Amino acid sequence: MANVKLAAVRGMNDLLPAQSPLWEWFEARVADWVRSYGYQQIRTPILEHTDLFVRGIGEVTDIVEKEMYSFEDRSNQERLTLRPEFTAGTVRAAIEHSLTYDGPKRVWSMGPLFRHERPQRGRFRQFHQVNVEALGFAGPDIDAEQIVMLARLWKILGITSARLEINCLGQGDERARHRAELVTYFDRHQDALDADSTRRLATNPLRILDSKNPAMAQLLGAAPQITTYLGDASRRHFDGLQELLAAARVEFKINPRLVRGLDYYNLTVFEWITDELGAQGTLCGGGRYDPLIERLGGKPTPGVGFGMGIERVIECLTQSGQVDTAARTDVYVIHQGGATATSAFLTAERLRDAGLDVICHAGEASMKSQMKRADASGAEFAVIIGESELASESAAVKPLRVLPSGTRAEQRIVPLQNLADTLVDALDGAEVEPEQ
Ligand code: HAM
Repeated sequence: MANVKLAAVRGMNDLLPAQSPLWEWFEARVADWVRSYGYQQIRTPILEHTDLFVRGIGEVTDIVEKEMYSFEDRSNQERLTLRPEFTAGTVRAAIEHSLTYDGPKRVWSMGPLFRHERPQRGRFRQFHQVNVEALGFAGPDIDAEQIVMLARLWKILGITSARLEINCLGQGDERARHRAELVTYFDRHQDALDADSTRRLATNPLRILDSKNPAMAQLLGAAPQITTYLGDASRRHFDGLQELLAAARVEFKINPRLVRGLDYYNLTVFEWITDELGAQGTLCGGGRYDPLIERLGGKPTPGVGFGMGIERVIECLTQSGQVDTAARTDVYVIHQGGATATSAFLTAERLRDAGLDVICHAGEASMKSQMKRADASGAEFAVIIGESELASESAAVKPLRVLPSGTRAEQRIVPLQNLADTLVDALDGAEVEPEQ
């Protein structure tokens, strides 16, 4: 088996250098955006006790039934699981560190998650989310704030295709009555149910509403809707959310069949969907999970949040092609080997001292091939240190950008002691002055 080429695990992707500028651009926008709403970052472990997800997400969900990467720890035979989502771990940490002891908290995370799903476009076994949670806020104002916050992010990113669907799942007793009616209804129409739905009828009938099987569309369209069973308080919460969304001019559609795939939700649920990505078009999903914190052993504390699939958002950005993702650096330093290489090495360090991004050519190559690399690096300037420059303690500065006239500005000789200042000024838009 020696020397057999190894490939990445199915459904798990490498992020290659050419793609990373777009991810970095996105991540920088996200960091500013969450800060602008007062969210602070929380980083929890990628591994958690399996029981956290079983209790948190719910035993009869797809994630827990068939998608978790779980194994026994070597030393003490604990059951561990690679996190399939952020909410349970965030809530565990909030309880463990009494985060809401002195008031409500807004926290966010970003990173990899793992689900053993069938890989396809927009669906992977290792994927990434931006996850946002508000702990300790009970009212619909925070639900609305999170949704409006997402509308703002789509604007920042230039994504115009995202549309919003919302629903209200009510509280436990309202859901229990709805569930009983649903079971009666589906029992009456058992012959119209597909195999998956027949199985769910016994375990999680609400999830039948989520089925995408076109053959069941009519049956589902006529099924009892949760909104019929909402009591006054739930209705007020849902109305409050809708009023704020309307006031903020964020368009939405109420989808009474939006139930979400995790068991912890109550009241508000929402999804942002795009038609640009094929079958896996949900960019973001979330909602309120007031029962979860108590279920995981904490004091009753309301919560609301969402998870956004980064790969899907990145695919939208790639399709729009609006983000400039070309490689960039300020300066590429070229030399002729020997003592000029040492001078180039040290000059690059001085330029970095002045705050510039610098690539210094490493190894030996002809000036011509170094120049080609300088061009490909996206640098604004090549700094050339040849034998004659070394002798005169100077460098040649060659602008690499093509001017609107189609030409490039002239190459200039600059004394090494002025080089950093000259380049800093030039990058600020000033002309490169020739040697006096
Ligand atoms: P979720 O609906 O399971 O919710 O995932 C949220 C988003 O993650 C999806 O809308 C999708 O964009 C992305 N996603 C999910 N699975 C995959 C996959 N296999 N490949 C690529 N992208 C995927 C949650 O995870 C909840 N924890 C969200 C939440 C936070 N609710 C309250 N707080």
